[in-house]
Amino acid sequence: MDLIPDPLRAWPVLRAGGTYPLDEETVVEAGPGTEGVARWLRTTVGAATGLPLPEGAGGDNRIVLAVSPGIGRELGPEGYRITADADAVRVEGGSAAGVFWAAQTFRQLLGPDAYRRSPVDPGREWSVPMTVIEDAPRFAWRGMMLDVARHFMPKDGVLRYLDLLAAHKLNVFHFHLTDDQGWRVEIKRHPRLTEVGAWRPRTKWGHRASELWEEKPHGGYYTQDDIREIVAYAAERHITVVPEIDIPGHSQAAVAAYPELGNTDVIDTTSLTVWDTWGITANVLAPTDNTLRFYEDVFEELLGLFPSTFIHIGGDECLKDQWKESPAAQARIAELGLSGEDELQSWFIRHFDRWLTERGRRLIGWDEILEGGLAPGAAVSSWRGYAGGIAAAKAGHDVVMCPEQQVYLDHRQAPGEDEPMPIGYVRTLEDVYRFEPVPPQLTEEEAARVLGTQANVWTEVMQDRSRVDYQVFPRLAAFAEVAWSPLPAPAERDFADFEQRMAEHYRRLDALGVEYRPPGGPLPWQRRPAPDGNSARLGRPIEGAPPNV
Ligand code: ACM
Repeated sequence: MDLIPDPLRAWPVLRAGGTYPLDEETVVEAGPGTEGVARWLRTTVGAATGLPLPEGAGGDNRIVLAVSPGIGRELGPEGYRITADADAVRVEGGSAAGVFWAAQTFRQLLGPDAYRRSPVDPGREWSVPMTVIEDAPRFAWRGMMLDVARHFMPKDGVLRYLDLLAAHKLNVFHFHLTDDQGWRVEIKRHPRLTEVGAWRPRTKWGHRASELWEEKPHGGYYTQDDIREIVAYAAERHITVVPEIDIPGHSQAAVAAYPELGNTDVIDTTSLTVWDTWGITANVLAPTDNTLRFYEDVFEELLGLFPSTFIHIGGDECLKDQWKESPAAQARIAELGLSGEDELQSWFIRHFDRWLTERGRRLIGWDEILEGGLAPGAAVSSWRGYAGGIAAAKAGHDVVMCPEQQVYLDHRQAPGEDEPMPIGYVRTLEDVYRFEPVPPQLTEEEAARVLGTQANVWTEVMQDRSRVDYQVFPRLAAFAEVAWSPLPAPAERDFADFEQRMAEHYRRLDALGVEYRPPGGPLPWQRRPAPDGNSARLGRPIEGAPPNV
């Protein structure tokens, strides 16, 4: 069956090799709470197979969708059981989410062509093997972060990624919406955030050490209706969208739009533009009441758009140079009785920690936020290795493990010169497969603080969707198995078995049109960066490829 992620257990029913046929007569018997899954099944599997899959009840050819409290007790809310026997295909989950993950497995059972958008062979007969599968996720937080600030991904691409996440049973989409290089969400009270902050005149091509520029404007943003659509589309796929507005660093796009947000006594912030290169800029927010009120406005609109309990406030890589130089920032430190600039950063974070908590939400931030003390409900995304996550769990905070050494998918996936953008740590498919989200330093009780794990996709070197696909796949499939399946310790994981199942999974990705890195390495047109974004595809020679890191 070559399922990915690997299920908890599966066994054949009755006769090994028997199959349950699906045809024009097959009806979908959707129990209470499973109407959304029935809709999904009809619009995806229905489209791929050409089968109408109408609502129906009884009969001798049916797919039964049901929420089962018994399965919920046995396998948890996201757990499920599929029973395909002579009577029916029963798709039962501990909740609607469990039924949805089961439906994803059901699609895998149908074969790679079930991932197409239209049938390729109208005469083809469809069936699933007679089998029982019982399954449940290891982690409740199985995420991917996508940076749409460095390179904008138009809405259509985001919706496609939500489908790709769902196909891998991932359930959190961490949406990195703002950074120095762009502001990507419409805020009605502060329209210049997108009028000005969503656009930059040119872009560094490749790594920051590169001397190449793409001399054309880049940008874009999501309207609030776009966001509502994205959130609803995700919800129908049982994916939570966790928005991130990065403060007080990574904020140059906002300062370019509203110069009063910056440290005006240090630099002329009216001269700032949305940043056009990579790295960490010194242009951070000024620690003023005006800044706090401004971002309260932003978060207030955000809370209206995103139902997620967790709201990500960034908090990473805030350079303190301007605060050191700024008489106003120094006066603020004195007035608040803070020990210095580091605590000023904590003051920002603690303010929004309180503010979000008062509104029934929970703050999550990159592991730098630990440095100044946090409310008990705050959670930490551990990115600078495991250390932040270990410290956070030991201090009683919830943790999402996403160490850059392991699961930053912008980093190269092979040594050598062939990778399109050979930056960062080498993380092969096997390395990702052997990633363990829970470090041995945690006691069982502390380990329970690890809500889960996520793969992060920073897009400085990913100019378009093809590049994102290349960096993300196939490694996201290995990551999904780590996040979902109860794998043994890293050294004991059967990578050969995973690779063997990947053969079928590549065919699913092909059917979906995913431009993954092939097992043998990049295809000729995937190989090298190109200054104009198209010449690599056209196969023209590349001049001055950026250096390795
Ligand atoms: C990060 O990679 N700066 C969170």
